[in-house]
Amino acid sequence: MKQAAAVAALEWVQDDSIIGVGTGSTANHFIDALANWHTMPRGAVPSSEATEARLRAVGIEIYDLNSSGTLSLYVDGADEANANLQLIKGGGGALTREKIVAAASIKFICIADASKKVAVLGDFPLPIEVIPMARSYVAREIVQLGGDPELRDQFRTDNGNVILDIHNMKITDPLQLEQQINQLAGVVSCGLFARRPADVLLLGNSDGSVEQITI
Ligand code: A5P
Repeated sequence: MKQAAAVAALEWVQDDSIIGVGTGSTANHFIDALANWHTMPRGAVPSSEATEARLRAVGIEIYDLNSSGTLSLYVDGADEANANLQLIKGGGGALTREKIVAAASIKFICIADASKKVAVLGDFPLPIEVIPMARSYVAREIVQLGGDPELRDQFRTDNGNVILDIHNMKITDPLQLEQQINQLAGVVSCGLFARRPADVLLLGNSDGSVEQITI
């Protein structure tokens, strides 16, 4: 299902472009499929060190976002997506760089298996990247917002920070919650992608078909 969605995203890749590439098992399917695709980008900006290594392994040139300029396309997975293409991301811990690359891209194609589509975001614990010294303060503030924060065990992000996974939140207003969490001192970024949702959601089904949702 993830592979079917990843392969469908290849249609958006333009010859000689620099594209953004996300992190996770679905993004890995995209990288593998891209390596054998007839239209090759000039290179890619990775959203994590793991993605950078995988892109290099298949011979795709790596670009720094500071020199690439605006990217035409960003392709990445998600942990949950709603009907407005707002997402929870960061299950792999790469949310901050994913958010930066998505923000710097004109089109964001989200690729996922069909189980990731939900009516209301929040069954998947919402990841937040936090500066280590702020983790207890931010956790207390999250409790005030109605969530149950849990420190991700033995985990550091590529940026050297920790992740709090927030359980038991029904996220009925993703935009507002993203803003509230972003305002907390010590929060680097929040895994809610509501201010910058996906532009296209490709959902792979078990029969190999792919549903395309656009808003
Ligand atoms: C990585 O930090 C995440 O945002 C991933 O995009 C998300 O967890 C989806 O991962 P899978 O493609 O492995 O399901």
